[in-house]
Amino acid sequence: MKDSICEFKAVSKDYSNRHGFFATDSYKIKALDRISLSVKQDEILGLVGESGCGKSTLAKIALGLESPTSGQVFFFGHDIAGFDKARMKIFRRQAQMVFQDPFSSLNPKKTVLKILSEPLKIHKLCPRDHYKERVSELLQEVGLSERILNRYPHEFSGGQRQRIGLARALATTPRMIVADEPTSALDVSIQAQIINLLLDLQERHKLSFLFISHDLPVIQFLSHRVAVVYNGQLMELMPKRAFLQSPHRPVTKSPNCHHPYTSLLLSSVPVPDPKVRTKAKKGDHGATLDYKSDRCQDGCAFCPRCDLAIDRCGVERPLLKEIEKNHFIACHIIT
Ligand SMILES: Nc1ncnc2c1ncn2[C@@H]1O[C@H](COP(=O)(O)OP(=O)(O)O)[C@@H](O)[C@H]1O
Ligand SMILES: [Mg+2]
Repeated sequence: MKDSICEFKAVSKDYSNRHGFFATDSYKIKALDRISLSVKQDEILGLVGESGCGKSTLAKIALGLESPTSGQVFFFGHDIAGFDKARMKIFRRQAQMVFQDPFSSLNPKKTVLKILSEPLKIHKLCPRDHYKERVSELLQEVGLSERILNRYPHEFSGGQRQRIGLARALATTPRMIVADEPTSALDVSIQAQIINLLLDLQERHKLSFLFISHDLPVIQFLSHRVAVVYNGQLMELMPKRAFLQSPHRPVTKSPNCHHPYTSLLLSSVPVPDPKVRTKAKKGDHGATLDYKSDRCQDGCAFCPRCDLAIDRCGVERPLLKEIEKNHFIACHIIT
């Protein structure tokens, strides 16, 4: 197995939220609950889960923009919590982010040249009189023409802006890019172009990607390995091959089995055949039940929605088990 670039060790993140405007009562949200996971060199790790399950929180923690409540994040084997200012600056150069919304992530008052020169200046990556040349090179990398150097973000479409965002991330020649739903604000046809560009860049530069999405087909297409998260807990981690073998029913014995939540996700992808009808399932109601319910306080986060849950699931958190080579599932009923 390849070496890891970024490793999360039992990372948890709690947020406390207040009720109402004047209320003093606050309650805790477990955005992440003991996530252990690593992004390997030269791979795209796809992180999939529904809205609110903690994906963006993990992205921010990966880049040191938020600190975990407990647990550690290692970058090339070093705990990022221990980085001093100088080491942090190097880390910021090596680990870059591509944002979801290409409309708000670029400064509207700056030209493309200015936007893309900024990282070169901050990290002193080339002399000032080479900025233009390097920025033109970056634009070419993402399929844009150097003729746009003096134009402003509002003059571009969503897809073009996302390309500029990617060029900005590439400017520092990073080792890892965290892409948080980079295509979900784009039209489907543009999405495909950006996804192909990401694949191309990953191969060309041997980059590592933590690619976050709630869109299963995108994750299936792009990822080398897939991590499935539900309400802050890692349910399953598998190679792409296992993710594509999707029996559209829960199977509890290896091989070819998935976590019941992964099975639910996979069965909800529309099948492009009008003769195939998908039956609604008990847990398949779109909304998440209250995962703070007493029944599941210490157990599996998916327990309230799981058809197959047994009493143990509500009281004891299942550990990740390797059920086939490099395929891990956290579930008491899978054997
Ligand atoms: N700064 C914050 N303060 C309070 N709660 C937050 C904050 N950021 C995220 N959350 C909560 O943490 C949970 C996970 O959020 P997030 O990581 O944004 O999920 P996702 O990206 O998967 O949609 C959600 O319940 C969200 O409301
Ligand atoms: Mg998010």
